Amino acid sequence: MKDILTAPFMVEMIRTITNMYNHGWDERNGGNVSLMVNENEIAEYIDVSNTLREIPTGFNASDLAGKYFLVTGTGKYFKNVQYDPAKNMGLFRLNGDGTTAELLWGYSDGGKFTSELPAHLMSHTARLKVNLNNRVVMHCHPANLLAMTYVHSLEEREFTRTLWQMCTECIVVFPDGVNVLPWMLCGTNEIGAATAEKMKTARLVVWAQHGIYGAGADLDETFGLIETAEKASEIYMKIAHLPMKNTIKDEDLKVLAEAFKVEYRKGYLE
Ligand code: 13P
Ligand code: ZN
Repeated sequence: MKDILTAPFMVEMIRTITNMYNHGWDERNGGNVSLMVNENEIAEYIDVSNTLREIPTGFNASDLAGKYFLVTGTGKYFKNVQYDPAKNMGLFRLNGDGTTAELLWGYSDGGKFTSELPAHLMSHTARLKVNLNNRVVMHCHPANLLAMTYVHSLEEREFTRTLWQMCTECIVVFPDGVNVLPWMLCGTNEIGAATAEKMKTARLVVWAQHGIYGAGADLDETFGLIETAEKASEIYMKIAHLPMKNTIKDEDLKVLAEAFKVEYRKGYLE
C-alpha cells in the first residue's frame, strides 16, 4: 500500500486546512471540513475492508450510505493538522443506513469526527441533489462575516445584496447569494437540518454570530467562495460607518451577470 499522506486528495486537504488557519478563520478548534472521496481514490492507500472502529453518527444519513469521507476531528486545531494529519482527521465509510461511521484511517488518539457532522452530511445530501459533483462542505469563523452579522440585517436578500455591492466579482462567484440562519445552538441535528435546508438554494450559509458554511465541487472552489464572501464583508466593515458616495448599482450587477453568463438569484436585483 502507498503512503496515504501522499494521496493527492490528502495533500490538498492538508494544504487547504493550513491555509484556512493562516487566514485567521479557524482559531483553536474552530471550523471543520468534510471531503467526499471515491473508493478508487483511496484504494491504493488503505484496505477498505479493514474497519478500525465503528462510530455512531447520531442520525440517519442513508442517502450517503457507502460513501467515503475525510473529515476533521472534533476539538482538533487546524493549526496542527499539517503536523499530525492522522490525529486531527479521519477517513470513514458510512454504513448501509448512514447511522455508523466505519473508521478506516485517522482519529489516531481515539477521537472522532467533528461535532458538526450533522450539518456536514445533511448539507452534502442537499447539495448533491442540486449538483452531482459536490464533494466539499467547509465551516469556519471568518472575522468580518461574523462581525457583519452583529450590525447588518440578517434578511437574506438584503445580506446578499450588500455583499454583491462590495466587490465587483461577488455576483459572479456566488450568484445564488448567501442564506442566513439566526443564532442557534451548534453541534446539533437541528442546526444540521436547518443548514441543509438553506443549502438547497445557496452554496453559502451564514450562521449568525458564529461563522459560515460553504459547499462546492472541490476544496479550491469552496475555499474561494468563502474567501470572496469574507473579502466583501471586510469591505463592508471598513465602510459601513462612513458616508456612502458610490456603489455598484443593480444595473451594473445585471451587466456583470450577463457578461459572465451567471444566473443570479431571482428577485434579488431591482
Ligand atoms: P469541532 O471541534 O467539533 O469541529 O467544532 C468546531 C466548531 O467550529 C463548532 O461549530
Ligand atoms: Zn463553528
